[in-house]
Amino acid sequence: MLLILLHANRYNASISSPDASPPVIAIYPGSFDPITLGHLDIIERGSRVFDHVIVAVLRNPDKSPLFTVQERIEQIRRCTPHLSNVEVDSFDGLTVEYARLRNAKVLLRGLRAVSDFEKELQMAHTNQTLWDEIETVFLATSNEYSFLSSSVVKEIAKFGGSVDHLVPQQVALDICRCYTETHPGATPPTATNPTTQVNHHRMDREV
Ligand code: PNS
Repeated sequence: MLLILLHANRYNASISSPDASPPVIAIYPGSFDPITLGHLDIIERGSRVFDHVIVAVLRNPDKSPLFTVQERIEQIRRCTPHLSNVEVDSFDGLTVEYARLRNAKVLLRGLRAVSDFEKELQMAHTNQTLWDEIETVFLATSNEYSFLSSSVVKEIAKFGGSVDHLVPQQVALDICRCYTETHPGATPPTATNPTTQVNHHRMDREV
């Protein structure tokens, strides 16, 4: 079964367990390279819906990330200290195997637009063929983040634009630091410096 919760926060929807039942644990899997305000929105709202949310960063050897898995974990931890039922971890292999290992029967995903739906539905169905006890729950991304993705953030940073309004403050600093590490003396990407470019070397780093 697939469950789509629209704006769960506004209606205080909850699928937490009743007192005597085991806690409902949700895995929020993804690349998070880097975490955006859209991801954070889903994590915050997911934490209100479920007893425990595990944000799980995929170790994907096929991708060349901007940030290492450890850096991404730290970035997510730094922007979620106010969420006591949120844990950050990494995994490799199949998401459902990780979910089984963590005793979680819910996969949490954000839906930004109809264009996300086809891929997400395919993923949800695939996961259910791998483990029939897993349920995928979609939260509709808040309107203001409906355009936002990690790729958009990297694209803007690459061409020197400011990403301050798109990612948590610490992550924006990391992106700037990332740039200055490989271009010492240069001005990091900001809105006032639209022609600078973010480092490309980090894109090739090992996870
Ligand atoms: O943030 P992303 O890149 O959209 O996340 C995609 C992710 C990590 C959720 C997805 O690629 C995934 O679950 N990968 C693990 C491999 C797996 O379980 N594949 C089967 C489902 S298609």
